[in-house]
Amino acid sequence: MVETIRWTDEGVVLIDQRRLPLETVYVTCRDYREVAEAIRSMAIRGAPAIGVAAAMGIALGMQQARPPELDVQFEAICETLARTRPTAVNLFWAIDRMKRVYAGVRGRPVEEIRAALVAEALRIKEEDIAVNQAIGRNGCGLIPDGKAVLTHCNAGALATAGYGTALGVIRAAVSAGKKIHVFADETRPFLQGARLTAWELLAEGIPTTLIADSMAGYFMKSGRIGCVIVGADRIAANGDVANKVGTYTLAVLAREHGVPFYVAAPLSTLDLSLPSGEAIPIEQRPAEEVTHCFGVRVAPEGVRVENPAFDVTPHRYVTAIITERGVAWPPFEESLRKLAGGGAL
Ligand code: MRU
Repeated sequence: MVETIRWTDEGVVLIDQRRLPLETVYVTCRDYREVAEAIRSMAIRGAPAIGVAAAMGIALGMQQARPPELDVQFEAICETLARTRPTAVNLFWAIDRMKRVYAGVRGRPVEEIRAALVAEALRIKEEDIAVNQAIGRNGCGLIPDGKAVLTHCNAGALATAGYGTALGVIRAAVSAGKKIHVFADETRPFLQGARLTAWELLAEGIPTTLIADSMAGYFMKSGRIGCVIVGADRIAANGDVANKVGTYTLAVLAREHGVPFYVAAPLSTLDLSLPSGEAIPIEQRPAEEVTHCFGVRVAPEGVRVENPAFDVTPHRYVTAIITERGVAWPPFEESLRKLAGGGAL
């Protein structure tokens, strides 16, 4: 399976997801500003993956920070990374984890501070893989055998430290011997489905059919789709789910056609400080992503464009939320809080 991001002596190495699947290119970010730029420009993307990248970016920044005034430099590094993308809460969750570690070692010799931050960033990466495998185990039973599964965007190994959330559940179901066929939405405008999900699944020999986003209704009506499974960028306390724009459309279609709609996400994607999805900040991306395809203009000059990168699916359309601690069912207010608190369902 592809390795999304790695800590090395030279810097943070990541696979440039903007160039897949045409080219497999690894880039080395040699200072924290380059890591921030990689997140902003979506060389690395996907909620858990950008959390890992931010943590490694902070660790990298502090390798180069010089005493005195380490506190000021640490804050500036965290600020820069926090300003990259607003919607996925995993980014802020990872920065908070790094801040807690820093608070525990500040005032200690700089070498000790650096080592502690690197260790925490590596822990965040390793934990993410284990968490995704647990999500896979917990969700595997929900995937119907012998039917197609529809997914949107890329919630796979590339969107995480490895294995994936929604694609992790699909991987686990395939490993358990289920006959699964994946329908992957191409996911305009950034084409994460066409470029990344299709690439990842084909590499593992998982049967995959690529469809344009606008075909989802056609296939749901055909009765071939057994369930929809997607990842998430932020989940509010009531179970409202922010994910790649177009997810809401799928959820409404799924309800109309009696198809279960599952969300697979780590608990680090929960934002219990938000009572509902209303307050989730939605990133607005550049118009060129819509007017152009691979640098080629496909829309007339001067046309007005809007490009929200995410939408919010109201919890009433969500059948269940699969996490590493178990599956949350409605009412999500209760089940999510129990899972987040470590309680059994
Ligand atoms: O804009 P992106 O590519 O970062 O958006 C990614 C998604 O919306 C994913 O579905 C989400 O982050 C979950 S990834 C496990």
